Amino acid sequence: MSDDHLVSELARQALEARGRAYAPYSGFAVGAALLTKDGNIFQGCNIENVAFTPTNCAERTAIFKAVSEGYREFEAIAVAGGKQGKEPKHFCPPCGVCRQVMMEFCSPEFPVYLVKSQQEVKCCRLKELLPAAFESF
Ligand code: THU
Repeated sequence: MSDDHLVSELARQALEARGRAYAPYSGFAVGAALLTKDGNIFQGCNIENVAFTPTNCAERTAIFKAVSEGYREFEAIAVAGGKQGKEPKHFCPPCGVCRQVMMEFCSPEFPVYLVKSQQEVKCCRLKELLPAAFESF
């Protein structure tokens, strides 16, 4: 599959996963699609909780699913978010916690595709999203 097709497929799967978001408190639905180095795709959605803090973001859902299935090497992630029940109006960059979790497993060059629709995708690098990341020297 060409790079363009892969990005488009990741965008499609992030939008699809977004449809499964459990977000009754914020009404903000997020989906993610994580591509492993060997070509598997793990999807994730945000999962909220009445106590708020146990809420898990879409990106971390996808990453934790993959890691718990034995995958630790990742090629790219796509993320789509916006008001539930509507098409995303804006790009939805990952929160700080998700950026730190990405940094745990991915290289600074790791591409994070922000998705508005399957046709509107913007690529950021993890190092741009999380410069001067924490490291325990
Ligand atoms: N959310 C994500 O799923 N990913 C992010 O990177 C930012 C925020 C979710 C958490 C919460 O369920 C909702 O979006 C509103 O903050």
